[in-house]
Amino acid sequence: MADAQGNKMAKDYGENIPFANQSFFVKGMDNVEWGMKDRLSRIFNPKTGRTVMLAFDHGYIMGSTSGLERLDLVLPELIEEVDCVMGTRGAIRTCVPPTYNKGVALRCSAGSSVLDDDMSFEVIGVDIEDAIRMNASCMAIQTFIGAPGQKDSIENLVKTIDAGNRYGIPTLGVVAVGKQMERTTKFFLLATRMLAEFGAQIIKTYYCEDFEKVVAACPVPIVVAGGKKLPEDEALTLVYKAIQGGAAGVDMGRNIFQAESPKAMARCIAKIVHEDYTDKEAYDLYLKLKEEFK
Ligand code: R5P
Repeated sequence: MADAQGNKMAKDYGENIPFANQSFFVKGMDNVEWGMKDRLSRIFNPKTGRTVMLAFDHGYIMGSTSGLERLDLVLPELIEEVDCVMGTRGAIRTCVPPTYNKGVALRCSAGSSVLDDDMSFEVIGVDIEDAIRMNASCMAIQTFIGAPGQKDSIENLVKTIDAGNRYGIPTLGVVAVGKQMERTTKFFLLATRMLAEFGAQIIKTYYCEDFEKVVAACPVPIVVAGGKKLPEDEALTLVYKAIQGGAAGVDMGRNIFQAESPKAMARCIAKIVHEDYTDKEAYDLYLKLKEEFK
């Protein structure tokens, strides 16, 4: 314990130097509370302002997916390549070591399955107390704009945002696209802006034509979803275009864990996101790493 003896008298107050006010690096987040900024800094790398999220929450709706049959075997080699994991509490508790200590995007909406014709009706599937207990960096809620479950999903989102704001946990609003839903720039402009205006601190959406406009109109960071599996070079081009278009990162699942070399894919995506590799440079590296990691 500090004691008075041997303690130098404080004397250098820098009276003529203005207080070192800080601005925060995540888009639109200057005015949120310190704890929320701390959590955002686990998701977004403070050096680049961007993130690579690994999505493996597929099981909440479809059970085991190709590439994710054994989360305990697949995740350890992948999570070290990314900034943030996105999964259910069941998957994270059992298969992500608590020593991971990077970002955790906790999937918090649930309620439908691949057996349903209409998958747009969900509920909040995780209590805020459990999100706090898990030290979630953000809570992910799916929204179904333009679908029958729109109103319910907006309710899930705003209730989660309110709970998150009480405890300093950001909410990741996920823009869902369904079988009958359009994937147009007009739709993504509408949905992303709506979610941001509801108060979501991060938006996950799909890449589209004129993506720059979607980014410009959205006052919070956008992370781009992966979607169905593409050939590896095309998936890297998608990442490159998203970053060039102003995305603050990507949140990808199948294009990583269903790749021929998932670990190489995760690493090459990170090269584009954090080190400004072009898609071509990243794919050349992928071909090399794929052999190395065999
Ligand atoms: C969509 O955002 C859902 O959260 C999915 O379950 C998952 O994240 C999709 O990942 P991907 O389409 O990249 O496989």
